[in-house]
Order: sequence, then structure tokens, then C-alpha cells
Amino acid sequence: MESKVRESRIKARIKHFLPFAVQKFLYGNIVKKARLLRIQLQGKITKEGIKKELQKAGLKKGDAVIVHSSLSRIGYIDGGAKALIDSFLDVIGSKGLLVMPAFSALHYDKKKKMYVFDVKKTPCYTGSVPETFRHMKNVFRSVSPTHSLIAKGKNAKWFAGGHEKCSSPYAGKSPFYRLYELDAKIFLIGVDQLANSSIHIVEDRYKKFPFKVWTKPNKVLVTFNNGSKKVIYARWHLPNLYRIRDNNMLEKHFLEENLMGIFPFFGTELRVIKARDVADCMERLAKKNITIYSTKG
Ligand SMILES: CC(C)(COP(=O)(O)OP(=O)(O)OC[C@H]1O[C@@H](n2cnc3c(N)ncnc32)[C@H](O)[C@@H]1OP(=O)(O)O)[C@@H](O)C(=O)NCCC(=O)NCCS
Repeated sequence: MESKVRESRIKARIKHFLPFAVQKFLYGNIVKKARLLRIQLQGKITKEGIKKELQKAGLKKGDAVIVHSSLSRIGYIDGGAKALIDSFLDVIGSKGLLVMPAFSALHYDKKKKMYVFDVKKTPCYTGSVPETFRHMKNVFRSVSPTHSLIAKGKNAKWFAGGHEKCSSPYAGKSPFYRLYELDAKIFLIGVDQLANSSIHIVEDRYKKFPFKVWTKPNKVLVTFNNGSKKVIYARWHLPNLYRIRDNNMLEKHFLEENLMGIFPFFGTELRVIKARDVADCMERLAKKNITIYSTKG
């Protein structure tokens, strides 16, 4: 089946040839406005409508769920990002746990000669839905300069705690590993495996993972919510790995093993899979030397 959420080859080729400054100008002045107008013309999507579609895709009361999203691909939502977030919170209820990625770019402070990360102020690049969620009441943010997660709901404080002490962003006792332990559902709205960060759980969990993926520990000055500061040591992915990475080769395996459902979701697609199924399937593949870093599979 042709994926509805993958960037078209024509678009990718155009982007490849246009200088970044031209792309930025076109995006800010034409593409962005035209896109908003196009989705507004399609009519409004309501919170009640969203809740129905989420339930159809298997979301239940008490679920732990991580959501990766592209808001613009869904269509025009009455109430925007907040309405999408509230739909999830309403369905899972007070015993559920809603998680999103609040990943941020690395900031190196030349004067301090180390990286810096501010739990309250550092914005995330993972979209307007997590950026809106980040500012909501009772949302806890984990301390990782690259792979921070935000959570609200049952045991959210515990869930987000201790990330700064982990040997990698995905290590045991990290919030990502807790997604595995909680058997959390992954909801990919308008995005595919490129956005599915849980595909990296295996890289720490499977001790014989055939690729070296983590940098050495780097010094990071963290400013916590209460303003206090502390130096931590954090690893992240080696910088050149993205060149040889093909996350979407996993789709075939997830579908063949009946682990992932693809549901229509207004103007786009919704992919649903469990964190445990992702990690276990990837471990089985890694044992055969098939990883996202080698397109053998
Ligand atoms: C990068 C990414 C966020 C871009 O998606 P996007 O749809 O262009 O952007 P957002 O989700 O931030 O949504 C904002 C857009 O929604 C649209 N929008 C605005 N109001 C809206 C509404 N009420 N209803 C629907 N869409 C609306 C606008 O086009 C807006 O774009 P603008 O701010 O540039 O004007 C997305 O492709 C992606 O990768 N998401 C997953 C990220 C992730 O989880 N990564 C983890 C691993 S790295």
C-alpha cells in the first residue's frame, strides 16, 4: 500500500536542489499560507469527531500512549493543537498517561564550553502539538538535551523522572524504556516511522546490537524548572547515522507480523503500534543483522 504520509519524490527532489534560504522564504511566504487556506477550506474537524476516530483506532480508558503528529496533515481542527491533546486526555481519562516527544536541538555555549539545556525554556522541534502540550498544567518534562519526553496523567512525574541519570536516552529506567514496560501504544498521526522514536529502544535494550550508535558522554549544563543548575553527562546519536538510516524499512516488517494498524484519520493516516512490539520485533531483526542502519531487510 502506498503511504499517504511519506514526502513525495518530486517534493524531495525540489528541496534537494533549492538553497535553504530560498526554501525558507518560499515556506514562510507562500507554502505556509497556502497550506492553511487549503485545510481551512476543507471544513472544521471537532474534538468529538477526533475522539471517535481515536477510539476506532483502539485508544481506551487507562491507556499509556505516546503521540507523534503533523497537525496540518489532519485537516482544520476547531481549537487546533489543544483540541487534539484534549481529545486524547478525554479518552484515556485520569488513569491514562499521555506522552509526547519534546526533542530539542543541541545548544553549545562557547563561553561555558559545554552544551546547555533549560527544562522550562528550551523549545521542542517536534511540532506545535507537543509544543502546546509542553506548556499545559501538570505536564512533566524529562531532562534530556536531545530526547526529552513530556507526560501528563497517571504517574507522569515518575515517568519523566531520572532521564538525566541514564547512560543513553533509551537506557533502562529512561522514560523511553518505561514506554516498553508500560506496553504503551504509539499513535503516529500523519507521520510514519521517521517520527517513531521508540524504534531506538532496541539500540540499548539488545546488548549485542550490531551498530555503534551513541556518542561518548557530553557535558551539559541543565537549568531545572526551579532555576537551579547542574552539570550532567549525556549521550546522543552519532551525527552521521542519519545518512545510512532507513526507518521506513520497518513498515514492511510491522505489517507482515500484524503488529501495526493503519487507519484513515480525516485528511491523513494514523499508524498504531505498541512500544513493546516495536522493540521486540526489532530485536528479532537485529539478531539476523537487519537494522534500520543496514537496508538488508
Ligand atoms: C515536523 C512536523 C512537526 C511538521 O508537521 P506540520 O504539520 O507541518 O507542523 P505542526 O504539527 O507543527 O502543525 C503546525 C501547522 O498546522 C497548521 N495548522 C494551524 N492551525 C491548525 C488547525 N487549527 N488545525 C489543523 N492544522 C492547523 C498550520 O499549517 C501550521 O503550520 P505553521 O505553524 O507553519 O503555520 C511533522 O512532520 C513531524 O515530523 N512530526 C513528528 C515529530 C516527531 O515526533 N519527531 C520525533 C522523532 S525526531
